[in-house]
Amino acid sequence: MTLLAPDTLSPHICRSETGALDIPCHERRARRLRAQAIQQWLDGLGHLLLRFWNCLRDCARSIATRRELAALDQRTLKDIGLAPADLPAVADGSFLEDATRRQRALPHPVCWMNGTLVALDQARVSVFDHGLLYGDGVFEGIRFYHGRSFRLDAHLDRLYRSAAALRLTIPYDRAALIAATNETIAAFGARNGYLRLVVTRGEGRLGLDPSTCARGNTFILADHLALVSEDTRDGGARLIVAATRRLSPDGLDPRIKSLNYLNHILARMEATNAGADEAILLNAQGRVAEGTADNIFIVRSGALLTPPATDGALEGITRAVVLGLAAALHIPARETSLATYDLYTADEAFLTGTGAELIPVREVDGRTLGACPGPVFARLMTAFRIQIEQETLHAA
Ligand SMILES: Cc1ncc(COP(=O)(O)O)c(C=O)c1O
Repeated sequence: MTLLAPDTLSPHICRSETGALDIPCHERRARRLRAQAIQQWLDGLGHLLLRFWNCLRDCARSIATRRELAALDQRTLKDIGLAPADLPAVADGSFLEDATRRQRALPHPVCWMNGTLVALDQARVSVFDHGLLYGDGVFEGIRFYHGRSFRLDAHLDRLYRSAAALRLTIPYDRAALIAATNETIAAFGARNGYLRLVVTRGEGRLGLDPSTCARGNTFILADHLALVSEDTRDGGARLIVAATRRLSPDGLDPRIKSLNYLNHILARMEATNAGADEAILLNAQGRVAEGTADNIFIVRSGALLTPPATDGALEGITRAVVLGLAAALHIPARETSLATYDLYTADEAFLTGTGAELIPVREVDGRTLGACPGPVFARLMTAFRIQIEQETLHAA
């Protein structure tokens, strides 16, 4: 019932929409205030319950991780080069996503550009930079944990290889780039985060010819990156198979990590349109290539399978870490061509990537997979966390 203006007969009586005389105004106001107070109280209670629930869930997760780690036998620990004494530190969990989630205020991004740290509003490239005009350039996404970059060598190897394939000269040698990444991490306000290292072709004249570009621009951005929500990370991602096909390796070798991501952006838009978390690209022959920013693994009868680079997959660094861990854990693993059928009928599947880290998959094109997170994923996830701790926190 909506209140109308106070009745002309008496300022204390309100008239309802139907025109009937109604309850005195002051009583109505009191009722409305009471209702608002109850609503606020309920909101507050709901908020409190949610926080309590999150707290319980965090505790449960931490206990589960401890159990999982305790369950790893001595042999496994030795295989991945960790002493049992390291376990408490690992189980306390300083893994990026956990730590990042707990952070209330995220630090501002910082940027190193062409030799020095710069204010963000100074971090600019020219409109004549061919990296901007044509996507002509290379990049790496690199995570850091405990203030140390993870697998920096492998990222730099890939960066220099990508540049070599494009005949692009990186203006800095390896030692200078390592120093620059360290400087950027140190300037960032958190110990865990994500670096984007970019080398563009540089400023040149309009027209595709890169020979007009004298020197590339190099910059390193430090920020936080979470590709999916915490719930998706826990409960599994929903994937679709994109209609957009992966560019043929004959056109652009998938091993080159270039600034040209249009192919993947189109697939990503399909995922968003479909309300899915990620899209899988097939190659021109209909074989599975990769996700838009990650590699895909499936588990079939206990074996780990992932598409080869020749089917259109980037040679992912996280993918290589997972393959190494699988070998250490005696999980059979191999590169092999996969069809959508293999995705639809997998016992388990998961995505790997620097941005993604490891994300279990629960559904592909509406088909619910056997288990999510599955037992193989759980073992690898635990080992992955340990590996990160070992290489960053425990590194000399
Ligand atoms: C297209 C694509 N595939 C796979 C990956 C995963 O590679 P990495 O594990 O080296 O981050 C990425 C990550 O950048 C990517 O962009």
